[in-house]
Amino acid sequence: MAKTDFAPTQTGTVAAEASDVQKYLEPVVVELTALSVNGKQAHWHVRGENFVGVHEYLDTLIDHCRAWADEAAERIIALGLPLDGRIETVADRTGQPTLEPGFQSSTETIKRIVAGIDIALSVVDAAIDGLDDSDLSSQDIVIGIEKGLRKDRWFLASHILPA
Ligand SMILES: [Fe+2]
Repeated sequence: MAKTDFAPTQTGTVAAEASDVQKYLEPVVVELTALSVNGKQAHWHVRGENFVGVHEYLDTLIDHCRAWADEAAERIIALGLPLDGRIETVADRTGQPTLEPGFQSSTETIKRIVAGIDIALSVVDAAIDGLDDSDLSSQDIVIGIEKGLRKDRWFLASHILPA
């Protein structure tokens, strides 16, 4: 009787496609993870106008970022490749703006977090474009993230009037 190979290494995906998914989704994981960390700092230290709304909506944004980062990361893993989500790597690669330490005004908090959302949206948009020719299932994930993140941007930014 022939020996059966049960090694769970077959993903059924072409290596080049998996490599593209890793290339475009890992930066999305990095930015969403960094945004969730900065979001908590902002959630704890915001003060001033619309306090409850801003404080609570930041937690909504954080929950979304963590869920989306998990979805993008697990897509890479499902295709058989690793990613680097270690804290050192996230800190080294993120483009998130630096938050000032300590208590911050509501307006300043929103401006910094919205700037961080825009950085995350830029890597999400790049992933949507880059995955168009290689993996539509992964592109579908980032399209969903783009819709949700842009809505969160609207909800948060609308706590302040445009200048
Ligand atoms: Fe809290």
